[in-house]
Amino acid sequence: MYYRNSLKIKLTCTTLISFLLGVQGIEYLKKETQVGKTDSLGPCRYDNNISDLPISHTFSALIVMWKFYRDGKNVFTILKNRPDDGGRMQIKDNYGVSELEIKNIKKHDAGRYICKTGASNNLSIDVEIDLIVKFKPEIHLRYNESVNEGETIEIWCDATGIPNPNIEWSRRSEEIGISGHMLRIHNVTRYAKDIFMCSASNTEGHDEEMINLNVSFPAEVEVLEKELQRLNTDTDVEMVCAVTANPMVNIVWYKGDKEIPVKEEPFKYVVDTQDDMKEEYYTRFSILKIISTLDEADFDTYYCKAQNDSGHVVATETITLVKHLGE
Ligand SMILES: *[C@@H]1O[C@H](CO)[C@@H](O)[C@H](O)[C@H]1NC(C)=O
Ligand SMILES: *[C@@H]1O[C@H](CO)[C@@H](O)[C@H](O)[C@H]1NC(C)=O
Ligand SMILES: *[C@@H]1O[C@H](CO)[C@@H](O)[C@H](O)[C@H]1NC(C)=O
Ligand SMILES: *[C@@H]1O[C@H](CO)[C@@H](O)[C@H](O)[C@H]1NC(C)=O
Ligand SMILES: *[C@@H]1O[C@H](CO)[C@@H](O)[C@H](O)[C@H]1NC(C)=O
Ligand SMILES: *[C@@H]1O[C@H](CO)[C@@H](O)[C@H](O)[C@H]1NC(C)=O
Repeated sequence: MYYRNSLKIKLTCTTLISFLLGVQGIEYLKKETQVGKTDSLGPCRYDNNISDLPISHTFSALIVMWKFYRDGKNVFTILKNRPDDGGRMQIKDNYGVSELEIKNIKKHDAGRYICKTGASNNLSIDVEIDLIVKFKPEIHLRYNESVNEGETIEIWCDATGIPNPNIEWSRRSEEIGISGHMLRIHNVTRYAKDIFMCSASNTEGHDEEMINLNVSFPAEVEVLEKELQRLNTDTDVEMVCAVTANPMVNIVWYKGDKEIPVKEEPFKYVVDTQDDMKEEYYTRFSILKIISTLDEADFDTYYCKAQNDSGHVVATETITLVKHLGE
């Protein structure tokens, strides 16, 4: 009651004086702490005798206040013995020494704390403390990265942490001697399709995350034998075609300009598919089998065609079945 009234009356005539007062005796401190800890900021020393002054005196009540600034902006103010933030921050006063206790320190507690003390009409800054909250690195990145073969890619590893973390890159857990937030790969080849690891460390700890680099490249078709010679009494002829692509494509067999009817009776043809999953990229083998005894019409040109999802032929190879006349 008294504090409020006196503040109202005195405010107008004493505001000017407060502004004119110097900033002598300010102490600047830097304090490092860690997330989760309980720590005290201070000491902030003040003249405890002011509070003993008689009510009639010009000066009003003694004030001890802590102000918090983040990026130069005042975020909150805590007055004498007034708990804030669910009691996480509390002023501890002890005969002329004030400390601001912060329990369970959080990252956003980092910033500047200023303790102001004095009579309510004559506050002065006693101490300024920069609180540095250290925390272990946290990585944020995109797990899946895609690139076309031949292009340049920049893979980013965004790591936060205080102190500033060191970032190291590795490929399949082998160091590749590259540090920093960005890994740039020029002229990416399909062999770069791999798991990359970004690891960030500082004095507080370590974090690591994986990035899956997916390199796309157009389909390539190869046949193991371009020409097969068979007797017209032969059975179980096999033609092998290998397609390497990312993404994988569909493989369709043609005889002349007609698609081979694999599923039509009588079952003359069988197509067998085998995937060879290499670590870097994969190859699909398609094996066309003629399961009946050969006849004249079977001696022809066969096409192994790679078709993309919209049915366009993106690569082709031919195999010619030639009649072997025997001895
Ligand atoms: C406070 O007052 C006591 C006596 O009342 C005196 O001894 C002491 O020095 C004073 N303290 C300050 C900081 O002025
Ligand atoms: C304001 O407080 C300071 C000490 O903090 C004191 O030296 C000064 O005399 C005070 N000024 C007035 C006008 O009371
Ligand atoms: C990455 O891509 C794979 C295959 O497309 C998918 O299954 C997976 O959910 C993706 N992961 C993330 C984190 O996006
Ligand atoms: C990219 O790599 C391929 C294969 O190694 C090479 O033939 C080509 O010249 C390279 N291109 C550039 C621009 O470096
Ligand atoms: C790799 O990229 C291709 C083309 O963008 C995509 O079709 C394929 O699903 C991707 N694979 C994985 C494993 O992410
Ligand atoms: C298939 O290939 C054609 C021709 O190259 C292209 O225009 C089309 O976008 C491709 N479709 C897919 C799904 O990749």
